[in-house]
Amino acid sequence: MTGKTKTINDLEAFIKTVYSLESIEEIRSKIEGNKDILGGQEYFVDKILGSRSVERARYYLERLLDSLSAVKTNGINDINLNRWNDYDDIITDSLWNFEKRDRSGTHLGWYWGNFVPQIPRQLILRYTKKGDWILDPFMGSGTTLIECKIQGRNGLGVDLNGDVVSKASERISLQKGIEPASVKALVADSTISDFSSMVEDSSFNGFQLAILHPPYHDIIKFSGDSRDLSNKNSVEDFLESMRAVIRNSKKALKTNGIMAIVIGDKFNDSKLEPLGFMTMNAAMEEGLMLKSIVVKNFDSTRGKRNQEKLWRYRAFSGGFYVFKHEYILILQNTARNALRRT
Ligand SMILES: C[S@@+](CC[C@H](N)C(=O)[O-])C[C@H]1O[C@@H](n2cnc3c(N)ncnc32)[C@H](O)[C@@H]1O
Repeated sequence: MTGKTKTINDLEAFIKTVYSLESIEEIRSKIEGNKDILGGQEYFVDKILGSRSVERARYYLERLLDSLSAVKTNGINDINLNRWNDYDDIITDSLWNFEKRDRSGTHLGWYWGNFVPQIPRQLILRYTKKGDWILDPFMGSGTTLIECKIQGRNGLGVDLNGDVVSKASERISLQKGIEPASVKALVADSTISDFSSMVEDSSFNGFQLAILHPPYHDIIKFSGDSRDLSNKNSVEDFLESMRAVIRNSKKALKTNGIMAIVIGDKFNDSKLEPLGFMTMNAAMEEGLMLKSIVVKNFDSTRGKRNQEKLWRYRAFSGGFYVFKHEYILILQNTARNALRRT
């Protein structure tokens, strides 16, 4: 067979072709030459390569075919591991490069400082199943909640800014949802919120995923509210508030649930303030286990794009590199969390 097998149908056709071969040598060489497309099926590959007769090899080929129609998941998402080759749209590398913002659904990208829908979408597909609960304590324009509806997940979004929450709610309500999506947007201060108590669904037993996209300290001022993390006087104060939101989110996460923090760094007085790594350390000190550091390309803001030459000059003269990336920190709550309702 030439080229790569992409779909389950191709794989089935390939197995049937191998089945029709008349000699064990031919079967072995066909399997040996296409091992890459049989990834995840190592058990059967070994058995077929170890078979001494055509009959024995065919027995394992039949079992391999059966296994392709069975559903096997890792228990935390809906990805069928027997069909892992079918999920071209799900990223497994740590470098995320999105050329364009996704414009499907009711996403508009109207909010300055929003993230692209691809970020929550990727996280939702990797770390949740249909019907799971997702928390976004810095919901802004509701990108996460719109994705929850599209993917059939339940979501709670919280933001300090009432005007933003009401505009976001309009967009969210226009999005058609897949059952059983139930989403709720609330105005509250996430540094002092008990997120579990905000969900009024009797079947709720904790969040499986929390997506935190805080202000990158004072790079964008989101409001005049002193509780807003973009108004904290120093990086230390910002980190203290960030720690409070991490703690509150962790308390509401299920055991083994995932916290993803989307954050970039900043410059201050010619000095780099590594907000990403400082926040990552804070999260680890709060007891979360680090699973991945994803680096995502950072599209220039409209303002910066007009000033690209100026930034290049500044980089030359100041001896630094212009930011083109931000982080998505993936952490896991390994602590046993019992859901407490007040
Ligand atoms: C970077 S934006 C999030 C954007 C969002 N991911 C989106 O796609 O629209 C950060 C948000 O955090 C909110 N925020 C800042 N401090 C907060 C706090 N203490 N509690 C709740 N929300 C807060 C701001 O109002 C702002 O909307």
